[in-house]
Amino acid sequence: VITSVRARQILDGRGEPAVEVSLHTNKAVHRASAAAADAPEGAAADAVRDAEKRKLLARAVADAVRVINDKVSEALVGMDPQQQSQIDQAIMDLDKAHHKAEIGVNSMLAVSIAACKAGAAEKEVPLYKHIAELVGKSATTLPIPAITVINGGTHAGNSLPIQEIMILPVGAKNFEEAMQMGSETYHHLKDIILEKYGSNSCNIGDDGGFAPNISSITEGLDLVIEAINRAGYNGRIKLAIDVAATDFCMGNKYDMEFKFAEKSGQGFKTADDLIEIYSQLCSEYPLVSIEQPFDKDDWEHSKKFTTLELCQVVGDDLLMSDPERIKRAVNEYTCNALVLKANQVGTVTEAIEVVRQAKDAHWGVMVSHRSGDTDDSFIADLAVGAAAGQIKAGAPCRGECLSKYNQLLRIEEELGSDGVYAGENWRTTAST
Ligand code: PGA
Repeated sequence: VITSVRARQILDGRGEPAVEVSLHTNKAVHRASAAAADAPEGAAADAVRDAEKRKLLARAVADAVRVINDKVSEALVGMDPQQQSQIDQAIMDLDKAHHKAEIGVNSMLAVSIAACKAGAAEKEVPLYKHIAELVGKSATTLPIPAITVINGGTHAGNSLPIQEIMILPVGAKNFEEAMQMGSETYHHLKDIILEKYGSNSCNIGDDGGFAPNISSITEGLDLVIEAINRAGYNGRIKLAIDVAATDFCMGNKYDMEFKFAEKSGQGFKTADDLIEIYSQLCSEYPLVSIEQPFDKDDWEHSKKFTTLELCQVVGDDLLMSDPERIKRAVNEYTCNALVLKANQVGTVTEAIEVVRQAKDAHWGVMVSHRSGDTDDSFIADLAVGAAAGQIKAGAPCRGECLSKYNQLLRIEEELGSDGVYAGENWRTTAST
């Protein structure tokens, strides 16, 4: 049984405060942390930051820590950690406002994950198996990694408007080979960037992708294609982009030059211009997935683009991992894949529900880290346990990214011949 829950403030991959929890049972201590990255404006759930703004540039989470130590711990003491849904309900019941603002998703999720780890230990099964049992499935599917290799947008100081270019090693025979292909391509890309732009161009952005001072999407994609060819993986690696278009939506236009020191004035695009740009990219490159191609509230153009069926269209800010927004998007076919950010949902039980919702609609599911995540590897087990098919955890470098990818290497080793790499079936892994 749970004997106490203790929390503390730690720092995440961006050096910002995050909540870490040690959940004690009568047998062991289980530790978990949750990224405190901010939710998009208008989200149903958000992290709680301190009312006292003087410390850590107003980002401190001492209030959230206090809530766990004072309230959450008391509510959970004596509960069986295997009872995930009861635990999650008990945490939610503490939030009198019923929109998570009182407890904060940063507190909720850290406790919920720690309880999930304790539940697995109590059952004496690996975490991914325990999650699969909560989902009601067997855990055998290793996701394809969506590996960030170039950063732009608000995640890097270059002029590239889009946030990420990712590589998907769908042609690998297993997860281990996928990471080998990803790592080799990443290092070839570094050499190419050094050759083309010089030694001060291979700095990295918030997800570990390189951030050369390029300004166009095609320039970035061309670099990555060259790296894939140099690594010898032509045809076996596909491309994905995260546009994060909400960040450069200005009224009814998108400013592709939003980070330019001097603007040419040619950078403003309409949503229909963007549809044309994306359509062309899909025909000229092995581009198979586009995340958040329009503003978070532009349901109309997202639908218009999705119905062209040119690629996987992933809803990030559009969905906010919020069941109500997902329901609307399923009904209106506004996108055809979910990026699941557990810290936008709040608890493990709700995260599983949201995956189920997306899978029932035959959508793709990309379990995602947050930029500047902590080193907690929970989402690796979640991706396997929920048979998501896809995981996005940044570059094949930086500790907070590798904690997830390396955990998947361990899971694959443990599953042995039972482990099936999603590979070419990455969008259609077994429904939960
Ligand atoms: P975020 O980025 O954590 O800054 O939202 C990750 C993503 O967009 O997938």
